[in-house]
Amino acid sequence: MRSATTPLDLLVPRPEHLPPDPAETRLAALYDEDPGTGGWLRANFVSTVDGGAWGPDHLSGSINDDADWRVFRVLRAAADVVLVGAGTARHEGYTALDRPCDVPAGDRPLELALVTRSGRVPQQLVDGDRPPLVLTGEAGARTARRMAPADHVLAVPAGHDPDEVDLRAGRAALADRGLRRVLCEGGPTLLAALLADDLVDELCVTTSPCLVGPGPSRIVAASPAGAPGEDPRPAGVPASAPVPARLAHLLHAPGTGTLLARWLLR
Ligand SMILES: NC(=O)c1ccc[n+]([C@@H]2O[C@H](COP(=O)([O-])OP(=O)(O)OC[C@H]3O[C@@H](n4cnc5c(N)ncnc54)[C@H](OP(=O)(O)O)[C@@H]3O)[C@@H](O)[C@H]2O)c1
Repeated sequence: MRSATTPLDLLVPRPEHLPPDPAETRLAALYDEDPGTGGWLRANFVSTVDGGAWGPDHLSGSINDDADWRVFRVLRAAADVVLVGAGTARHEGYTALDRPCDVPAGDRPLELALVTRSGRVPQQLVDGDRPPLVLTGEAGARTARRMAPADHVLAVPAGHDPDEVDLRAGRAALADRGLRRVLCEGGPTLLAALLADDLVDELCVTTSPCLVGPGPSRIVAASPAGAPGEDPRPAGVPASAPVPARLAHLLHAPGTGTLLARWLLR
């Protein structure tokens, strides 16, 4: 039986204003996190009000905005490595990453790590001068070694199927290289797998003030993600047990209504 005795805080009328700031000092403090010895995995995603993870062009760029970009830059500055599924790297045209120039950050270059079962490294990364790290299984490693330097291919085969990727071992392999602050930028298939393995410490979700209908997947998707116009999740798949999430803060862009939430899963 539900009761109506829960207290509520009204957040919106008394906002703390965060004016534009190239160094983003205040925003950086809001997202500051000590990775500890075990590391910290933060995921940053954008969703429309009706839950879509991409816009009509099948890209997330068509549903994000300048408010999202401010936080996106801060999170990149705070990361040692950006982790993406190969699908996101292909769709979104990832190349070697640069740190945002105005936001204070560490000296080392920002690494890119790709999760792929197939081992197929997107061509623009093969052609680039700073190859990504590749987290993959046994068969994928054989393929990836033809496309990336051998010391960048981190084979982390899963116990139940050596061609699958053991994401927990992958995270440990990154930590062994000193990459403890991990920022996952996509995509929905990878996020679902990371959540299923209880590897996500924090989920930052930008809610874009628009709706895109039932075609796109949510920010978590059953594998493989559906093409535009398809529901990637078969009807009748039961929901997982709810995982508690604690709101660390909520930002609001007054011009557009964009909401940027920081949820802690630990
Ligand atoms: N809304 C957002 O914030 C956001 C963020 C990122 C991307 N997106 C959008 O999401 C769409 C792509 O979705 P997606 O779900 O296909 O992206 P994805 O998770 O990046 O890519 C899926 C592919 O990544 C590899 N992969 C992911 N998880 C894996 C795992 N646990 N083990 C082994 N390999 C794994 C596989 O690559 P192989 O095929 O090489 O084995 C798989 O086919 C694009 O439209 C993109 O624009 C949205």
